[in-house]
Amino acid sequence: MEENILVKLAKIGSLVDPYMEKYLKSNCSKEFEEIALYQVKVGGKRVRPALVILSTQAVGGKIEDALPIAAAVELIHNYSLILDDIIDRGEIRRGEPTVWKKYGLSMAILAAVHYREAIAEAINDSKHPLKLHDLLVKTIKTLVEGERLDILFEQTGRFNEPYVVENRRKVVTLDEYFKMVYAKTGALIEASCRAGGIVADATSDVINALGTYGRNIGIAFQIADDIIDIFGKEEKTGKAQGKDIIEHKMGNIVILLSLDELKSGDKEFLLSLLKKEPISGEELKKAIELIANTSARDRAYEIGEKYLTEALRMLEKLPENDARKDLEELAKFILYRMF
Ligand code: IPE
Ligand code: IPE
Ligand code: MG
Ligand code: MG
Ligand code: MG
Repeated sequence: MEENILVKLAKIGSLVDPYMEKYLKSNCSKEFEEIALYQVKVGGKRVRPALVILSTQAVGGKIEDALPIAAAVELIHNYSLILDDIIDRGEIRRGEPTVWKKYGLSMAILAAVHYREAIAEAINDSKHPLKLHDLLVKTIKTLVEGERLDILFEQTGRFNEPYVVENRRKVVTLDEYFKMVYAKTGALIEASCRAGGIVADATSDVINALGTYGRNIGIAFQIADDIIDIFGKEEKTGKAQGKDIIEHKMGNIVILLSLDELKSGDKEFLLSLLKKEPISGEELKKAIELIANTSARDRAYEIGEKYLTEALRMLEKLPENDARKDLEELAKFILYRMF
């Protein structure tokens, strides 16, 4: 199953990448090109453009109409990653140094601004540009809110940022977690599916079904990302194992569910690590072991399954065709991938 979907993602990547390159190179100095292209050239699964294209095809639209907006959503994703890595001080992504790590903070900030404008250029070239601008502006603002909450759910650090220090949450409920992950990750995945429907001139009922599918797999996507963060190996994920613990994140479902289950001494140990800066390799290893010995991973998958089931139920509202089958496969891949 996974192999089949990986071949499809690669094929879609090869169609969308030239569009991303076109918009990143447009109005770009020759000297800045290397920095502008770096983030998209080092890799990425291309899940979001695949969702745009398959959504378009599932409702009878043409792939040519989906390509510019598929490039736009993948550019939004990469734009958010450049900023996320600055915010999280992430040093490796897709198995390579992050943009700020490689080119420095000033260049990374400029790259992010350049991406935002490349996104606007891609939307201008799409069908129904005003509708899509409206959708994606809202989506990016939602993403900003998600990142804000994720930062406030951290348990220490950012001592030179009084706003964060004063507004940090000591406790994070599952409801708050789902609000945060819908905003930081789910909204863009929902918008990808909606955009696919819009360029196919689908009815609002159909666009809403695609959107609900996307919102549900979007949340499942972040649940999987959280599981992978704690248990995934760097060779496979291209990201550091346990970085959410290193980054003091309480907004990770596996961490939240394990805190709920751990007995007092172990719970205090994990909480104290989330509040410790910096932590040692030994401490990180011990924390991962503690979490692995709870049922947090299984419970996270159970919750993910509920979102997956709801997503698949939405697909039943669409006509039966190959693209719909691919959306089904992609939804399962999104939850059960290990990278
Ligand atoms: C990582 O996204 C960031 C999240 C929103 C969880 P992906 O797992 O899609 O990253 P790439 O594009 O494949 O590198
Ligand atoms: C992903 O958040 C959300 C965005 C990129 C907006 P994470 O912080 O979990 O992403 P990774 O794990 O660094 O890829
Ligand atoms: Mg991050
Ligand atoms: Mg982050
Ligand atoms: Mg993550």
